[in-house]
Amino acid sequence: MQHTELEALLHDMSLNEKIGQLFQISGQLLAEDSAAMGPMQDMGVTREDISLAGTVLGVYGAEKIKKIQKEYMEHHPHHIPLIFMLDVINGYRTVYPIPLAQGASFRPELSGACAKMAAREAAAAGLHVTFSPMTDLVRDARWGRVMESTGEDVWLNGRFAEAMTRGYQGDDLAGDETLAACVKHFAGYGAPDGGRDYNTVQLTERTFREYYLPAYQAAVDAGAALVMTSFNTVNDIPATVNKTLMRDILRGEMGFDGVLISDFGAIGETVAHGLSSDRADAARRALEAGVDIDMMSGVYPEKLEHLIREGSVKEELLDEAVLRILELKNKLGLFENPFKGADAEKENRVILCGENRALAQEAAERSFVLLKNDGDFLPLKRQETVAFIGPYADRKQMLGGWSFLGDPADTVTVKEAAETLAAGWNFTFAKGCPVLDPETRLVGFGKDSQESYTEQEREAMWKEACETARQADKVVLLLGEHYLQTGEATSRGVLELPEVQQKLLKEITSINPKTAVVLFNGRPLDLRLVRDNACAILEAWMPGTEGGPALIRTLTGACEPTGRLPMSFPYCVGQVPVHYDEFPTGRPYSGAEDTNRFLSKYLDIPNKPLYPFGYGLGYTTFSVSEVRLDREEMTREGTITASVTVKNTCSRTGTDVIQLYLHDVAASVVRPVKQLKGYQRVTLEPGEEKEVSFEIREEMLRFYTADGSWDSEPGSFEVMIGESSETENKKVFVLKK
Ligand code: NOJ
Repeated sequence: MQHTELEALLHDMSLNEKIGQLFQISGQLLAEDSAAMGPMQDMGVTREDISLAGTVLGVYGAEKIKKIQKEYMEHHPHHIPLIFMLDVINGYRTVYPIPLAQGASFRPELSGACAKMAAREAAAAGLHVTFSPMTDLVRDARWGRVMESTGEDVWLNGRFAEAMTRGYQGDDLAGDETLAACVKHFAGYGAPDGGRDYNTVQLTERTFREYYLPAYQAAVDAGAALVMTSFNTVNDIPATVNKTLMRDILRGEMGFDGVLISDFGAIGETVAHGLSSDRADAARRALEAGVDIDMMSGVYPEKLEHLIREGSVKEELLDEAVLRILELKNKLGLFENPFKGADAEKENRVILCGENRALAQEAAERSFVLLKNDGDFLPLKRQETVAFIGPYADRKQMLGGWSFLGDPADTVTVKEAAETLAAGWNFTFAKGCPVLDPETRLVGFGKDSQESYTEQEREAMWKEACETARQADKVVLLLGEHYLQTGEATSRGVLELPEVQQKLLKEITSINPKTAVVLFNGRPLDLRLVRDNACAILEAWMPGTEGGPALIRTLTGACEPTGRLPMSFPYCVGQVPVHYDEFPTGRPYSGAEDTNRFLSKYLDIPNKPLYPFGYGLGYTTFSVSEVRLDREEMTREGTITASVTVKNTCSRTGTDVIQLYLHDVAASVVRPVKQLKGYQRVTLEPGEEKEVSFEIREEMLRFYTADGSWDSEPGSFEVMIGESSETENKKVFVLKK
């Protein structure tokens, strides 16, 4: 449709039809059974409102969506199609690793490929929009939603945000294998006080702009068709009704001209926040802030008509929002083909197809991070008898908390994978214990969260594990969080493994100290106990449908772990939020030898995290030479090339991720101790060496200066190049006036 036709359509619509476009309903409400009206009815949402709704949340399946779309359009006065939206986060039916794990791959292009694969499956199942990518910066491991983010680094998050957005959307939103991407949660949702979900966010304007906004900007620049508001406050005003944030910053400064959707119920929640005086006030404020779609609070259909008729909200504001939604429908090609990619035959064919499973396996392999490997404990050797013990040794549920469509039945467990991929190896298996302590209750998650075993069953499981450990040359312990311990509303105040698993770790390692630990988790954990007891630690996150094969291949050395931590693993919970790009203090502490009392430190724990951002080992070792600069001074227009020589010092081919960090030594505002500005992956044969170079340009030195401009300042800069954010391998150069 031409823009003029959309405008003509808008003109022809009744007030209620227009309001309907702004209303998102849950799939349940479309069921013929009116009992499903549930809470919406209490909110004053009527059957007529439902029949005029513009978008739907939570329905999937080609046949179902086609049927709903057809019937809905027949009854709609202007036959306007619905948009079907869903959280397709780390895959649709084929589940690839959780986003935090993808961050660990340091391969945005691979995440782009995964997004494309997810879009292909979901589009065949009739969907049009995914609520992804989530580009919230995360620094606090207590927050359960860190699993949905690609980590703590502003620059890296931006690269993932753009790659995922492009992966979902492709070149043509109307294509039958693409989804429109909805970047979320705007803005600053990743910084709730105390790591408690939905809690207050308090960021200075400078921190907000410099660290939290750029990844959303990267998604917007990559063409994200939608943005979702966040639940938190920004500058003490809930983001969802924050006019400055949405109109001035998002639309004005960041240039977003797509559809802005509220998060689930978020418009209505501004009353509980103590900002909107009532639901009518909330509706007015959200529309004035430019929120186009009301996801599930029912406030728009309930209140907008009256507000507009009485003149307290301008109809032009409504028209503006409706036009944006119609434009999105048009870009999706729905006026020409309301069923878009929905195709039941294709849905069956592409879902979980070999190609998608292979990509999921590759993504999982690339996301694993080797945290410890004493005495080359890993990879395992063929002649060894190895006992795989723990609740994840043969567990189907390793998909993560946001895999609505992922079916654990489709997952290949570690044990199943070993049976096919390591048939000639001498592996034994035992569970040892369930994931959670018997008394743990995950509030609100129902019985799904607990495995019920009798006392005798628990004892038998335990005994079997001990016996298996005794008879093996080596043990691989597969431990972790319950998948429902991460994701939305899963903040934790304790970052250790469940107690029963800690006990298992102690018991098994006392029986057989030759033990490696593989971890399944959605957040950085306090790993001190694991570090102290295990010879090797492999971080496997929630690896998805093909997690088992990826792990067996990695543990047996068919492939090497090449992931690097996208988020610091704290020493203990008392250290969070902890992140590598912190500011220097006036009283820097240089470590345990420093006996000066009045320094910035703890009395009882170190300042440094247990495992820092960017850290990860492989099955090889490398040496990195001193940094070389091709010149020591740089003009604003010029560049400097910084290089190191990387050498494989081991007898095995291996891959390293060489990272570039910069630090502005003195500036008009304090600058972080270092900031990631690039990385390169090098694969080297035994003994081989290679020069790795980075070009430094003036734009990489910019920041929000004291006067608020985005600029660089002349002076000295440190260039650091190394294997993690802890590198102190540096040289200094000067940016000239
Ligand atoms: C609430 C979550 O915060 C958001 O991320 C998600 O997209 C919506 N629910 C819809 O499921």
